[in-house]
Amino acid sequence: MRDKLIDAAIKAMDNAYAPYSNFHVGAAILDESGEIHYGGNVENAAYPNGICAETSAMAAMVAAGGRQIVEIAVAGRGEVLCTPCGGCRQRIREFAQPETAIHICDESGLRQSFTLEALLPANFGPDNLV
Ligand code: THU
Repeated sequence: MRDKLIDAAIKAMDNAYAPYSNFHVGAAILDESGEIHYGGNVENAAYPNGICAETSAMAAMVAAGGRQIVEIAVAGRGEVLCTPCGGCRQRIREFAQPETAIHICDESGLRQSFTLEALLPANFGPDNLV
């Protein structure tokens, strides 16, 4: 399943719309029903209106009825690992658990896996509001 998720993230990276940064990112999510949802970054001529790949994938998941991130893969190129930005870590938190795996990959496959807790320690989430 992890390989399928990585393949979906790479496909989304290839389809990303990133004419300004030329930095293509893809993300794929396995939800609680076993469905895979994916998305790429979508940039905009008015730069701040661009959205990240992880956010695209989460929007696709929610639109399809998914509410839990079981695993997520993020694909991006470059020397440095393409880990989710701060805003996306918080958005992932909404639908994930501390132990949820975040797999960072590129065309060569898996590069490194993290837990959400490792990327966003002592986080604020839905539990804070009950
Ligand atoms: N980007 C993502 O899609 N996800 C991240 O977690 C980091 C950054 C995108 C945003 C922008 O389109 C491009 O990468 C360069 O920052």
